[in-house]
Amino acid sequence: MKKDVRKAIIAGNWKMNKTPSEAKALLEEIAPLVKDAGCEVVACVPYVDLATAIEATKGTNIKIGAENCHWAESGAFTGEISTGMLKEIGVEYVVLGHSERRQYFGETDETVNKRTKAALAAGLKPIVCVGELLWERECNITEEVVARQIKLDLWDVTEEELKNVTIAYEPVWAIGTGKTATAEQAEEVCAFIRECLKKLYNEAAAEAVTIQYGGSMNDKNADELLQKVNVDGGLIGGASLVAEKFAAIVAAATRN
Ligand code: 13P
Repeated sequence: MKKDVRKAIIAGNWKMNKTPSEAKALLEEIAPLVKDAGCEVVACVPYVDLATAIEATKGTNIKIGAENCHWAESGAFTGEISTGMLKEIGVEYVVLGHSERRQYFGETDETVNKRTKAALAAGLKPIVCVGELLWERECNITEEVVARQIKLDLWDVTEEELKNVTIAYEPVWAIGTGKTATAEQAEEVCAFIRECLKKLYNEAAAEAVTIQYGGSMNDKNADELLQKVNVDGGLIGGASLVAEKFAAIVAAATRN
């Protein structure tokens, strides 16, 4: 019950949207709307937008994140991007283990763990995504699924490293569907995730971790979700592509 010890983080996950020029325009629209935010504001953007995004947000309070990274420093991994490449251009955050990567690109807890370890070693801040499928929720195994993901994805992550980790609880059935988890459902699983972290680390370490909710979070439902004591922020897809909606969610995080 210690929301005040944690940093609230509102992060946009742009997914495969916006060309570099469109990214610049959107960030320039968002920047003045969120300049007085009382929370961390992050935009996670496609690889080719990163350099433009970093340039466009210089001197603002918006931090830039990537949507994935590889675990090797370099080598024969066609199409992949290393942590060193991201660091050198000034990227701070990286989304890892998003359900779309798990569903469509063969991401497993083992590869999420490798990417998480590499990101932390490079000084990046991973946003590690976990969450159950609709079928898993219907079978009443949400907690088992999430506990397993937390344990495996954070395998060998030290207590010191955990300080730079954000967890995003994203029920897969709520992503891009317009079907939001109720604030009670979100709180229930976010609180459970914190219990898992307590068991894996300790109470103080677990209380300090920012746990976001993601899945059709928008300007209308953000307040209710963010009022919950274990919901410390949001990972926003669709609504992060509309400046006013994203700014309204940032304002909700600032209020709560
Ligand atoms: P939507 O907000 O579009 O449902 O996407 C959520 C998400 O996947 C963020 O990572």
